[in-house]
Amino acid sequence: MGELRIGMVGYAFMGEAHSQAWRTVNRVYDLPVRARMSLIAGRDKANVAAAADRLGWDEHTTDWRDLINRDDIDLVDICTPGDSHAEIACAALAAGKHVLCEKPLANTVEEARAMVAAADAARAQGVRAMCGFTYRRVPAVTFMRRLIAEGRLGELRHVRAVYLQDWITDPEFPLVWRLQKDKAGSGALGDIGAHIIDMTQFVTGQAITGLSGLTETFVTERPLPSGDGAALGAATAGASSKGPVTVDDAALFVARLSGGAVATFEATRMATGRKNGLRIEVNGAKGSLAFDLERLNELEYYDGTLPGTELGFRRILVTEPDHPYLSAWWPTGHLIGYEHGFTHQARDLLEAIGTGTDPEPSFADALGVQLVLDAVERSAGSGAWVQV
Ligand SMILES: NC(=O)c1ccc[n+]([C@@H]2O[C@H](COP(=O)([O-])OP(=O)(O)OC[C@H]3O[C@@H](n4cnc5c(N)ncnc54)[C@H](O)[C@@H]3O)[C@@H](O)[C@H]2O)c1
Repeated sequence: MGELRIGMVGYAFMGEAHSQAWRTVNRVYDLPVRARMSLIAGRDKANVAAAADRLGWDEHTTDWRDLINRDDIDLVDICTPGDSHAEIACAALAAGKHVLCEKPLANTVEEARAMVAAADAARAQGVRAMCGFTYRRVPAVTFMRRLIAEGRLGELRHVRAVYLQDWITDPEFPLVWRLQKDKAGSGALGDIGAHIIDMTQFVTGQAITGLSGLTETFVTERPLPSGDGAALGAATAGASSKGPVTVDDAALFVARLSGGAVATFEATRMATGRKNGLRIEVNGAKGSLAFDLERLNELEYYDGTLPGTELGFRRILVTEPDHPYLSAWWPTGHLIGYEHGFTHQARDLLEAIGTGTDPEPSFADALGVQLVLDAVERSAGSGAWVQV
């Protein structure tokens, strides 16, 4: 079995989730290549050293360029905010490294297009690139796509997709990078709206073709964070000065899909009481399916072809060995959690690299999401219906 030497940038939320996946993936799945956690990059020497030790990386560095320059790194895994995705990914691909890049792919459509061009050029050399829309790999979501592709819902009519969190409800919550446009690209829109855009296009197999959106920023300035003000809910201000919030707190839009369905989307980090409330419901002519991330082992299914006396939503517990990804895990009914999606993502990427095929979502798929994000912002600015 070949070894794939990983270099990862960033060691906070996603860095930890991806590290868990790299540590686990070959112990769970039989794969053509084995991941080696070779080198982790971060900006602070003491912190990156501690992260390497805690998360299980062989070596550490304070400069991500070391990942690009070293011959003994085969794949670069980008777990940093969006402002560094394009530069790191394009450099890695040009150096012949496979790339896994967190979502959203970039902060602008222009950057995303450059990344797609870099991935296309690299593919000709057998180099693979994938974007981390992890929720595709929750087994219930993958299974939802399969049922829809089999025609179980008939013609699709509506999609209702929401992603609701509440971690910035307090106006004293500090101005972390996710609230700064130059670092994050956009607010709730790109952070969590990007997930429900990708999931909608993934489960329906249809593209968003046009939309009308609005965005709102409820708290326009916030205390400056202490330190580098890292993760969700982590930083406390301790500072009297404030800075401007330059992204949306909430983004809503209605859209048309390429197969004729209509859809509504709602993304906010100010839905008081909602912690990680991602829900997607698809209604078709013959039935409906719904998924809720806070009950991620389940699907709600309504089969409208049953006799009237038997109609009703039923719960499918998605833990059978012949459900996607699950044959390698626990016995039926023994549930999986949030982190498993990352292991499944690593599995699919290693499988693709080992068999010389293109992993999904590709950078081109992720550009498709970026175009929708851009259309929402343009529509919110002009008030007009915008073609994607
Ligand atoms: N797939 C998912 O479900 C999911 C979930 C959360 C975040 N994300 C995405 O993952 C990315 C990172 O988010 P996060 O939540 O891990 O953020 P985070 O703030 O928890 O971690 C960011 C890390 O990047 C480091 N960093 C920042 N700029 C850097 C630079 N120029 N060079 C080197 N290191 C740098 C920080 O020090 C930190 O270690 C974002 O693109 C985000 O949208 C994806």
